[in-house]
Amino acid sequence: MAKIILTADRPTGRLHLGHYVGSLRRRVELQNSGQFERIFIMIADAQALTDNADNPEKVRQNVIEVALDYLSVGLDPSLSTLFIQSQIPELCELAFYYMNLVTVQRLQRNPTVKAEIQMRGFAENTVEGDTAQKQGIPVGFFTYPVSQAADITAFRATTVPAGEDQEPMIELAREIVHKFNSVYGPTLVEPEILLPDNAACLRLPGTDGKAKMSKSLGNCIYLSDTNEEVKKKVMGMYTDPDHLRIEDPGKVEGNTVFTYLDAFCRPEHFSQYLPEYGSLEELKAHYRRGGLGDVKVKKLLIAILNETLDPIRERRHYFEGRIEEVYTMLEEGSARAREAAAATLADIRRAMKIDYFDDKELIASQAKSYANRE
Ligand code: TRP
Repeated sequence: MAKIILTADRPTGRLHLGHYVGSLRRRVELQNSGQFERIFIMIADAQALTDNADNPEKVRQNVIEVALDYLSVGLDPSLSTLFIQSQIPELCELAFYYMNLVTVQRLQRNPTVKAEIQMRGFAENTVEGDTAQKQGIPVGFFTYPVSQAADITAFRATTVPAGEDQEPMIELAREIVHKFNSVYGPTLVEPEILLPDNAACLRLPGTDGKAKMSKSLGNCIYLSDTNEEVKKKVMGMYTDPDHLRIEDPGKVEGNTVFTYLDAFCRPEHFSQYLPEYGSLEELKAHYRRGGLGDVKVKKLLIAILNETLDPIRERRHYFEGRIEEVYTMLEEGSARAREAAAATLADIRRAMKIDYFDDKELIASQAKSYANRE
């Protein structure tokens, strides 16, 4: 079976290092590996609108930012199809059919959506007092996991490189595929999530040490941050609050600077930047023992991050001067994506028996049955 990738990001802001180690870096490697028959990378503007209905301008402005981030990390439109979700109407159609295969109760159990409801401050239940004070949950937002199952299956994706928070979505997509195939006959492909292989990349904490990089917490390092911004953010980063003097023993676990090193450091970085240590393990051991100051470790991280980001910044600068071409690329990508989705939808309509005008047999047999009644 052909191996096909689909993955996406919501255009609600620029992409940051959490996106990079959680998925973007992997996508580029997979793209360049040549193992996949097709790669679809989607800007999920329709999904972004499910909880930004009153802020269309934000979504609109961030489509280009995400596209620039994609191009700058090395996604290549000649190898990957980059496109915009809202330009593929087949996805809405498919989501509407899938809604019949999923219960409200099943959707209520989605832990990622639950956490997002909390974070957005939506009213959680239908008690009068609650809904009077808080905004209720938009139906589109509540059902976005169903729409995401449509995104994935419309392209017959086998592989979805994504972060841990997307696991419940892929699980639901698999359930929908099972249900669909058992009701309508084998039609859809079951997708698998591809998670980052290292714990630091699975969930990169914010610069403040909080569980996740998030724009609303202001704890992100963006792919488009300048050298100076990266330096300032790393210098202000959360470390071990009990590591007061250099000679004190320090904790590496939960120390954000070390978590970032776990995510970004390669063995050759030591000979390049800190030749007195042979590996990250040696550096950690020294920190634990005491005698190694935060500033020295932070300086290493700054060097590594800027080395990683320099080529990304350079490509971003190049594409920032070619915005019209980037839109043309997205338009062409959307046209190609639409063709692929339309082909799957034709199979789905046939399986669901809603292909009335193409089913000559249906028409002929009904005509015959009426003719026989004469
Ligand atoms: N939910 C994803 C996010 O918030 C975005 C997304 C939309 C997605 N459709 C997708 C991810 C399909 C993977 C596959 O980042």
